[in-house]
Amino acid sequence: MTYKILCGLFLIGTIGFSCKQGIEQGQEKKVEPEPSLVFAKGEKINNDHFIGDVWLEMLVLADSVNKNSVGSVTFGPGARTNWHTHPNGQIILAIEGEGFYQEKGSPKKILQKGDAVKCPPNTPHWHGASSEQTFIQIAISNGVDGPAQWLEPVTDEVYNDSDSKKILVVYLSRTNNTKTVAEIIHEKVGGDLVALELENPYPENYRAIVEQVASENESGFLPPLKTQVDTDRYDTIFIGFPTWGMQLPPPMKSFLHDHNLKGKTVVLFNTHGGYGLGSTVQTVRKLCPDSEILQVFSVRGGSERDGIYLSIRGDRKVEVEAEVEAWLKEIQLRDKK
Ligand SMILES: Cc1cc2nc3c(=O)[nH]c(=O)nc-3n(C[C@H](O)[C@H](O)[C@H](O)COP(=O)(O)O)c2cc1C
Repeated sequence: MTYKILCGLFLIGTIGFSCKQGIEQGQEKKVEPEPSLVFAKGEKINNDHFIGDVWLEMLVLADSVNKNSVGSVTFGPGARTNWHTHPNGQIILAIEGEGFYQEKGSPKKILQKGDAVKCPPNTPHWHGASSEQTFIQIAISNGVDGPAQWLEPVTDEVYNDSDSKKILVVYLSRTNNTKTVAEIIHEKVGGDLVALELENPYPENYRAIVEQVASENESGFLPPLKTQVDTDRYDTIFIGFPTWGMQLPPPMKSFLHDHNLKGKTVVLFNTHGGYGLGSTVQTVRKLCPDSEILQVFSVRGGSERDGIYLSIRGDRKVEVEAEVEAWLKEIQLRDKK
């Protein structure tokens, strides 16, 4: 099959809409932007691959040099694609309104202006607008290995599932190792991501913080938190912390003291400087006696004492991403694909 035919098939498959005449392969189409829009709304899509009102403006067509096609898709409130896959994946850039993106087996993610999503190859997923807002996305697709494969429609039950609002990933981090793990988890499970901040931040100096933490641990002082979270809104709460003085850091003790997590699923993750979890998990168990506490994920992070700050980056970050993925599958918070 020639490249031209493949490209045409891919576009029809991807957008479910016939390409407009007058656009030469590889040429950028001149568009007349509507007043408040970046790109024109385009033409209404009229086929069975979508539910609701959806418009498409093709901006760039792939050619033999640049294999990506780019389109601006406008979803009216409640509109969405069917489940589908792309042999080469797709990139979605949210440019207006509020929308959703969901991969099969993972929670629905909320997309807002400025969000970017990399949809992996051959992964069933759907995307569309929230029920109340028009959502505009730029879709960048590479169709070298063929068009999108369209699957079943997204039922109202799936569309309205508010799982994305029920997961909280809350963490404490000083040198960003725990923050990096929190972001990896959040990327995979969705929900809300919250960093704990203190009313009175700890000193920058390592010796000084070690001394302060030791004295707080001894006296039982619970440092007041600036961060306010309504934990009642969540069913599953991921809690991330570094090991400090072989204990749970005082700010995390404050958080667990301030919030009753009764009946919730609590999922712990930790980074440490080489000495492990210490008594952290036992302390969480004591402070959350009525929660279901799942198997903890713990990895070596930095060692501020030795001048090593953020160590979960580069190749190490890629390794940790794979470890997190395996752990989430094991605790069944991410379905096996
Ligand atoms: C006050 C303080 C105490 C620490 N105590 C320990 C410890 O007892 N055992 C350990 O393995 N690492 C310890 N560390 C190292 C951190 O656990 C490690 O660097 C972790 O990855 C930091 O996470 P963060 O980058 O998210 O802040 C300590 C770090 C600090 C700042």
